[in-house]
Amino acid sequence: MPDALNLLRTRRSIKPVELAGPGLTPAEIDTLLTIASRVPDHGKLVPWRFIVFDGDARLAAGNAIVAAFRAKYPDAKSEQVDYERNRLARAPLVVAVVSRAAPHVKIPEWEQVLSAGAAAMSLVFAAHALGFAANWITEWYAYDRGVLDALGLAPHEKIAGFIHIGRPAAPPEDRPRPPLGDIVTRFGH
Ligand SMILES: Cc1cc2nc3c(=O)[nH]c(=O)nc-3n(C[C@H](O)[C@H](O)[C@H](O)COP(=O)(O)O)c2cc1C
Repeated sequence: MPDALNLLRTRRSIKPVELAGPGLTPAEIDTLLTIASRVPDHGKLVPWRFIVFDGDARLAAGNAIVAAFRAKYPDAKSEQVDYERNRLARAPLVVAVVSRAAPHVKIPEWEQVLSAGAAAMSLVFAAHALGFAANWITEWYAYDRGVLDALGLAPHEKIAGFIHIGRPAAPPEDRPRPPLGDIVTRFGH
């Protein structure tokens, strides 16, 4: 089987805590982002952008998550607060894919949202192709206005996903995939 097909058939998410270092080089990060930014995009609107979290920036973002968490749960235990602070520091690299979809005279907003999903998926596949593993997650803080403000998102922007990237400690077990018979129909048959 060609390498590319093998990659597509075997890709599997790895839990963020199981994504180890050493992290990616700046050149590897550029490769990932370059691939993620060449996806179908109706109207060439570029309705997405990326925020890179690596090194100490991961804990700085964690502090913003903690501030929002404490506002919601003032009585939270210190272990819970530490867990929240470490959210983006589990993997060596996290890339937020930000949707910039907005009403447009010609291009439906839905199609702009789909393009952000394509960028996120390309990022995941590119990480796998480079020998890393990835996990596309959102979690509560992707929907918290205080966190979004701290990360610099404009009011109309949304987190499509925090893509966690690192080295897989071990190959993952696959999970059941939907049988094609359940999801495919042949029109006219
Ligand atoms: C938009 C989006 C958001 C997700 N958010 C979360 C999340 O917050 N927490 C979680 O455990 N999984 C989340 N997932 C699912 C993970 O990506 C999950 O590990 C993955 O679906 C496993 O699929 P795989 O076996 O094909 O890699 C999300 C998936 C998508 C597409």
